[in-house]
Order: sequence, then C-alpha cells, then structure tokens
Amino acid sequence: MAVNVGLIGAGVMGTDHARFLTTSVGGARVAAVSDPDTGRAREVADGSGGAVIDDPVDLIGDDRVDAVVIASPDPTHKPLTLACLAAGKPVLCEKPLATSSGDCLEIIDAEASTGRRLIQIGFMRRFDPGYVAMKTALAAGDLGAALIFHCVHRNATAASYTTSENLIANTAVHEFDIARWLLDDEAERVTVVSPRASSLGGMKDPQIILLHMTAGSVVDAEIFVNAQYGYDVRAELVCEHGTVSLTPPNDIQLRHAAREGFGHPEDWRPRFAAAYRDELQAWIASVKGGPPAGASAWDGYAATAIAEAGLASLASGATASVDLQPRPALYHSP
Ligand SMILES: NC(=O)c1ccc[n+]([C@@H]2O[C@H](COP(=O)([O-])OP(=O)(O)OC[C@H]3O[C@@H](n4cnc5c(N)ncnc54)[C@H](O)[C@@H]3O)[C@@H](O)[C@H]2O)c1
Repeated sequence: MAVNVGLIGAGVMGTDHARFLTTSVGGARVAAVSDPDTGRAREVADGSGGAVIDDPVDLIGDDRVDAVVIASPDPTHKPLTLACLAAGKPVLCEKPLATSSGDCLEIIDAEASTGRRLIQIGFMRRFDPGYVAMKTALAAGDLGAALIFHCVHRNATAASYTTSENLIANTAVHEFDIARWLLDDEAERVTVVSPRASSLGGMKDPQIILLHMTAGSVVDAEIFVNAQYGYDVRAELVCEHGTVSLTPPNDIQLRHAAREGFGHPEDWRPRFAAAYRDELQAWIASVKGGPPAGASAWDGYAATAIAEAGLASLASGATASVDLQPRPALYHSP
C-alpha cells in the first residue's frame, strides 16, 4: 500500500518534493496539497494527482492523509509539526524545526510524550553520496582523529528579504547539522566573524562561523549568499593522517576556447537531487514501519541552538556558548 502524503507548502521545495514523490520515490503518492496560494496548490495537486485542501490543519487531520511533508515558511513549522503530533501522523519537516530552541524543546516534549519518533527534519545532506562517503572514510579509522572541518556554502544570489541573521538561522543550519553528524559530536562554542560586506545584498555577507566541538575539533563555515557565480557547496575534513573532501558533483568537464572547467547550478536543487530523493525514500520506509531515518527533532533542536548562539555572537562580536538540554531517551539511538 502506498503511503498517502499530504504536502503543506507548494513553493520551491514543496514542488520539488511533490515531483520526487510522484516520479522517483517508491511506495508513496501525493494525496493532498495545501498552500494559501491556491493557484500553486492546484498546480502541484494536478501534477501529482492529489486533492487541494485549503487549511493545512484540515489536511493534517484528513483521513486521506497518512503522513505529512511541511515545506512552508520557517515560522509555520512549529504549529504544523505540533498538529501532526496531535494527529499521530509522521512528518517530514523542512529545516529548521523551529525558529527558537525553546520552541524546538516544546516540540521535543510533545514528541517524547507520544513515545515514538514521528518527526524527521529535512537535513538532506545526510543522504548526499559525497557526505556519506566522507563519513565512511572517517569511520574506517585510517585518517585518524578529525581536526578541522572546512565548509563553504555559496548561493548565487539571495532573496530580497534575506537578512544577516538568516545566513545563520536559515542557511548555516545545514553546516551545523552536517558537522554534528559527520563528527558525531556537539558544538560547545560559536564565533561569527564578518569580513567587509559584499556591496551586493545590503547585509553582513559573507560570514565565517567557527564552531568549537566538544571533542576538540574546529569547524569553519563560510556562508556567502550573494556569491554571484552559482550554487557551490564544499567541504574538506582535515584529520591526523590525511584529508577527505567533496569533489565537484558534475557530469561533465568542458574544454573550450582555451579554458577547461565545469558548470555550477543556479541553486541547490540539482546539486542535492539525489539527497532529496533518498531522504524522501528513507522517510517513506520509516513511515511504513522501518526504523527512524535521517535527522530527528533532537538534531533539529541542536542545529537551532547552535544558530541561536551564532546570532548572539553576530550581535556581540564575542564567542557564545551552546548549552544543550539533556537528551531525552527517545533520541539516544540514531
Ligand atoms: N532542505 C533544503 O535544502 C531547503 C532548501 C530551501 C528551503 N528549505 C526550507 O523549505 C521551506 C520552504 O522554502 P521554499 O524555498 O520552498 O519557500 P517558498 O517561498 O518557495 O515556498 C513556501 C510556500 O509556502 C506557502 N505558505 C506560506 N504560509 C503557509 C502556510 N501557513 N501553510 C501552507 N503553506 C504556506 C507559500 O505560499 C509558498 O508557496 C523553508 O522552511 C525553508 O527553510 C529547505
């Protein structure tokens, strides 16, 4: 039996999730779509064979919906995730889980009281073949202990409403999550350093975010959302006996007009297509009774807590500490 998915938010990410669920994820179908932009909702519903349900809370409660994907704006994640928990329905919530660590803890309390893991967070990099290969290489042991994790996250251009704070709370959360996952460690201190700002975009862009991890490694993440030339994510892990890094995930290398090189996508969708598809496939397997997959609500909380410390550092110029609450038993296993 196919899992009937209700999709909330039919924008860039929602449209992409619907396309994967309809074309390349097995065992699932889009049963219903909700978006205040009814034209978008109708377009995505028609493209995937689902119904339009105007109110997202009605969609969550609808008998035709077994499980929910939340791809609406960040401030909607908390109330909609809580509504999924109240209905006892599994939910794949786009990152971030919520916009404050206190809100994340409320969601964690609500999930813990159901006694089961119903929430997966859309930190899709955990399914990217490159990051998976990096983690495998580190786990093999030959590289020795991890020392430095260099990360680069560049967007071609940022939306007009992007702020200096969004670079940390909305964009860098991907780096926070992948660093925690790759290093199997937590961040204990965060320092944000801003060089002279690019004249494009009118905000503190780029930023460098330093994380001191509890086991002693350091993560440096360059976040640059008006880099102009394309979407580019890089990572190199420096260890005691060598390094492991992502290679550019391109199909071709072009030699032409006395130059040699490869293209960069305009945004994240082509770069992480395999990760988005595999994330959804793993989620569907867990909805069908398999073990929990991907990032948990706890991981969502940890990423938002690091972002909060980052925002404090951005405001003060000083290093800020990350003070995580004790991890509830529900989240002790991966
Ligand atoms: N995992 C990733 O790589 C990734 C990438 C981009 C965005 N995101 C996240 O996905 C979410 C959506 O981002 P996007 O780029 O698709 O934004 P978007 O603006 O393209 O789409 C958001 C959609 O949600 C709709 N919406 C607004 N309020 C709503 C509500 N209350 N209920 C239902 N729908 C509502 C809007 O009308 C719009 O169609 C954000 O939380 C963002 O942080 C994740």
